[in-house]
Amino acid sequence: MKKLLIDCDPGHDDMMAIMVACAADDVEVLGITTVAGNQTGDKTFFNARQVLTMIGREDIPIAKGAMVPLVRPLMTAAFIHGESGLEGVELPEPKSPGLTLSARDFMVNVLKEATEKVILVPTGPLTNIATLLISAPEVVDKIERIVLIGGGIRDSNVTPGAEFNILVDPEAARIVFESGLPITQVGLDVTNKTLLTYEDIELITQMKGPISSYVGPLLKFFADMNKRNFGINGAPVHDALAVATAIWPDVVETEFLNVVIETRGEFTLGQTVTDVYRITDRKPNVQVGVKVDVARMRSIMIETIRTLDAKMV
Ligand code: BDR
Ligand code: CA
Repeated sequence: MKKLLIDCDPGHDDMMAIMVACAADDVEVLGITTVAGNQTGDKTFFNARQVLTMIGREDIPIAKGAMVPLVRPLMTAAFIHGESGLEGVELPEPKSPGLTLSARDFMVNVLKEATEKVILVPTGPLTNIATLLISAPEVVDKIERIVLIGGGIRDSNVTPGAEFNILVDPEAARIVFESGLPITQVGLDVTNKTLLTYEDIELITQMKGPISSYVGPLLKFFADMNKRNFGINGAPVHDALAVATAIWPDVVETEFLNVVIETRGEFTLGQTVTDVYRITDRKPNVQVGVKVDVARMRSIMIETIRTLDAKMV
């Protein structure tokens, strides 16, 4: 049984990430923590609780984390996820208020109590994870691996050099990438390939089940925003690929490379500088996603929605 802690900022693709983990066999989601990113910390916490209510998993503990990046003001992604962070359809009111414990304290407790190692899957800016690593070194050996979505070898989406999750909190990303922990980086080079097409979204909408009825219009909104901003023809469910990679590592092929985070660049702030050609003598520190099994990922996503639809009726 794989044990996962998901740190997220829902966000349409974060929602899909939570759903993939919850629908998978042999996976225990030990908890969800939220971080400011796609929207404010209050909104992402609210949205994550809505997602758990939608899929009937209010039993999963959920804790609110950082409201701002470590040293910079917050930048949100309303241009992709809307003002609520999860626009497209009104989700049910959250049934659970969530924990009063902070994300950091909750993660510390979970890791302390864990009898087996835990995989951390951050799908937002890395503020909570960096805070955990700095402030609680005593629990770090309980982390099996960090499988994160962020950055890219060549692809970017907010500036010509940087991807959103890393750009929002580059200092936090630097701490995580320099931590020495096993890291798998699922970046835009692979996530931009795992699209749900408009035909897929229509298929999901036509399932007309208790989950698909919500998810169809949400994915449609997300796809439209991606089309408008990036000319992408479909919904790139980035974060779901990170969770899928944590559960089924062979979905993404990786190369062990050196990656450093640019925290001062005039044009390149937040870039994941990847030594693809091994030009420097910096040691490899990250398993970087270079190829993805697109067909498999598509069927994982469609099956996730089918499974959750069936569980809810
Ligand atoms: C990442 O940015 C966010 O908008 C998405 O949720 C995803 O985690 C992709 O760059
Ligand atoms: Ca996200």
